[in-house]
Amino acid sequence: LSLHPFVNTLLDWYPKHKRDLPWRNTKDPYIIWLSEIILQQTRVAQGLPYFEKFLENYPKVQDLAYAPIEEIMRHWQGLGYYSRARNLHQCAQIVVDKYQGEFPDSYQELKKLKGIGSYTAAAIASFAFDEPVAVVDGNVFRLLSRYFGISTDIASSAGKREFESLANELVPPNSPGTFNQAIMEFGSLQCTPKSPDCTECPLKEGCFAHKERLVDALPVKINK
Ligand code: ADE
Repeated sequence: LSLHPFVNTLLDWYPKHKRDLPWRNTKDPYIIWLSEIILQQTRVAQGLPYFEKFLENYPKVQDLAYAPIEEIMRHWQGLGYYSRARNLHQCAQIVVDKYQGEFPDSYQELKKLKGIGSYTAAAIASFAFDEPVAVVDGNVFRLLSRYFGISTDIASSAGKREFESLANELVPPNSPGTFNQAIMEFGSLQCTPKSPDCTECPLKEGCFAHKERLVDALPVKINK
């Protein structure tokens, strides 16, 4: 099986540079779901203590489903975007009532759940169930846009489709979860939004933006 050099480089880089984060040491879809909901619009450093607190108070999806919403809101206090906490509670109740307490094991089924969009469905399906579906967050947009030289507006639906389709072509069928973690981690630690250190970058030889001196110009995001 021959993979794109972009993919091989990321898979080589990831184990040497990754942060040791608790949700990366599990295949439990409940724990992965919990972490991804908390991390939406939230930095790892801010989300981490909330993740620990939720897992301590609600170790199983049933604990969350049967908890009073007021208590969940209290534990969520300070994280912001409070609709996430309401959706979290409702989703837990649906998993318990309609799925016998087991999260569905495919991208398509996961997407039907309350508060689970394409990103979260892809994260759970690939990390927990090894389904070869790409996660596409801001880090992934930035990295793909720079490396492959794509100047389509990342805020447009055509742009989202284009990046999503490219990411899905790149996902290696044998290690989708590791690749998805790797591409997000690389965007977060190496291919940073402001002044990335391209001299130290293992992808610089093949990187369009580096070669054309367009690193600061990509990705293109047109404010609406
Ligand atoms: N942000 C969102 N999901 C993440 C993950 N799985 N690891 C690190 N940061 C994240």
